[in-house]
Amino acid sequence: MARADAEHGIRPFARLFKDAAEQLRNADKGFRHEFHTSDSSRSRSAHPDRLAEGPSGGSGDAPPPRSRPSDPYPKIELHVHLEGTIRPRTLLDMARRNGVVLPADNVEALSEMYQYRDFDHFLEMWRTTTGTMRTEDDFRQAVIDYAREAKSHGVEYVETTFSPINRNKWDGIPYPAMFNGVADGITAAAERYGVTVRAMPSMIWGGPPDLAEECAKWAVRYRERGIVGLDASGNELGRGDVSQFDRAVAIARDGGLGIVPHAGEAGGIDAIREVLRWNPDGLQHGIAAAGDPALMAELVDRGTVLRVTPTSNVGTRVVADIAEHPLPRLREAGVRCSIGTDDPALFNTTLGQEYELAEQLGISPASAYQAGVDGALCDDAVRQQLQEVGEAAFGDHPA
Ligand code: HPA
Ligand code: ZN
Repeated sequence: MARADAEHGIRPFARLFKDAAEQLRNADKGFRHEFHTSDSSRSRSAHPDRLAEGPSGGSGDAPPPRSRPSDPYPKIELHVHLEGTIRPRTLLDMARRNGVVLPADNVEALSEMYQYRDFDHFLEMWRTTTGTMRTEDDFRQAVIDYAREAKSHGVEYVETTFSPINRNKWDGIPYPAMFNGVADGITAAAERYGVTVRAMPSMIWGGPPDLAEECAKWAVRYRERGIVGLDASGNELGRGDVSQFDRAVAIARDGGLGIVPHAGEAGGIDAIREVLRWNPDGLQHGIAAAGDPALMAELVDRGTVLRVTPTSNVGTRVVADIAEHPLPRLREAGVRCSIGTDDPALFNTTLGQEYELAEQLGISPASAYQAGVDGALCDDAVRQQLQEVGEAAFGDHPA
């Protein structure tokens, strides 16, 4: 059955990029403008001495993610950080509940801070906000809330990554609290919304290998409860010798988990080449490969699925402009690309929007979906079910 959606017919090439750029500008209208005009006040409000405590400014909830015309077709998301799904209103409530001081006390001010000078600045903001998650219930609720949001965008399957190492080391949150919260959230997401969620913890690039190994051991213990892999994220440029994580990777592999590190986002081609030593089951980002035809050919040979997140790549300034995004080059070389949001709250995006941007960059929804089916770390039964949903929606020969 062919996809019956005339709206997504061929548009003139130049127009596609214009549309994509326009869409991105519109996506963050309302606070990007303020960022550019009030740089000094932004850094003032970010200063810890000025952190406001107490009740929120009462500015109301962030607008719910809008349903878009593309929502009816099914989607798969393989790249989303659980901590980055928490919308500003919920994050402020969580911070208050947990006695965590954020650098802003209302939705507008917090949203304004989600404008990043560069990749390091993004990571700084990510670390600031993720420290808000403190309890088992926070982790459970984050999974459930995102499943509800994802459902509204037609999502069938989500693979979320989360970062327990610093929460354990810095905030003393026990591993079982975090893993039980995620695992219970996975069960509830399936029951309430019919969304299949799987999860994987992330090692920290450049972090202590023994903590990565401890994390991998916990992940293996939760394999029967929806934990399917091991990621590595954070400052890819500070990764050092990636072989430090060989033992953690071996623990995960021996325990039946997949390996899907962040590589080739800020870290470039070398980072991708280095993680190939682990024979990864996929790559978060991997977009730097577009600069190396031999590497792209190798990824094609290996059948590696990239988990590409267009808006985030521009938001972190790893890609200068959406019109320069490497997705078209990856597609032309035959590299398989699934599409994700990365941190939807921190980049003010939704999966519906990312699929639309990807389509304008030459990755059809059918091909993004099929790459998701093929790259997911799920078991065969789930994969078969996802395949059937895809065939019913897109036909059995995805473009
Ligand atoms: N890259 C590295 N670390 C991250 C990211 C990312 O895209 N998102 C959250 N932490
Ligand atoms: Zn990511």
